[in-house]
Amino acid sequence: MEDVLIDMRKLQKYYPVRGGVFQRRIADVKAVEEVSLQVRRGECLGLVGESGCGKTTLGKTLLRLHDATSGRIYFDEDPERVKETERLLASDRPEDRHLAATQRSERDVTKVSKQRLRALRQKMQIVFQDPSNSLNPRMLVKNIVAEPLVCQNLVDAREIRSRVLELLNIVGMSSEHLMRYPHEFSGGQRQRIAIARALTTRSSSSWTSRRPLSTFRCRRRFSTC
Ligand SMILES: Nc1ncnc2c1ncn2[C@@H]1O[C@H](COP(=O)(O)OP(=O)(O)O)[C@@H](O)[C@H]1O
Ligand SMILES: [Mg+2]
Repeated sequence: MEDVLIDMRKLQKYYPVRGGVFQRRIADVKAVEEVSLQVRRGECLGLVGESGCGKTTLGKTLLRLHDATSGRIYFDEDPERVKETERLLASDRPEDRHLAATQRSERDVTKVSKQRLRALRQKMQIVFQDPSNSLNPRMLVKNIVAEPLVCQNLVDAREIRSRVLELLNIVGMSSEHLMRYPHEFSGGQRQRIAIARALTTRSSSSWTSRRPLSTFRCRRRFSTC
């Protein structure tokens, strides 16, 4: 497959269920069980399933907001390098498996270092389902949208305001909205702010959590892919 952006292999995410006096792990919630999928650049993928089947968990694990239990996630990785690591992983020879582990620490989102993860996070963003919970109620819109730019050190301090305005314009908002708090907006407007924030780093992939656009009347067409 050409130009694969996300290559997920047998991803598993279990949440521990703890019990007893010592709060030992007594069972697991098997939220994601061996999911493999590929998403090409420019492609949109919709996950459909009943409530509690693991859609949100899959998204959170993909961005490593939650650690995977097992499996591999290659993000914007050279297919030849992916093939090489997968071949080594399938090998029975201990030296191959050792080499595979080393390679995964550079190529697999579930294993990369914090530093590499930080770089990867510039390329992927999440838009949560409920904007009233995902926007900090104490922050002004200008700071909410600017936050990823500041955290990732992406633009010069003097350019932040114009970049934030540019992003707000993309989602049909303007300078009059900069100095307001999230509670001063409708649900649809809040969702636009969340989308503007997700576009901040010009990500090559955005993961949207269930019906993010249901409250969003799109005035302009835009694409993050
Ligand atoms: N942080 C968590 N701790 C423990 N269990 C969780 C956690 N998040 C989700 N789960 C469980 O994982 C399963 C999948 O949840 P989720 O991914 O939110 O489903 P969906 O988004 O498809 O509705 C559910 O059984 C849920 O209770
Ligand atoms: Mg969900």
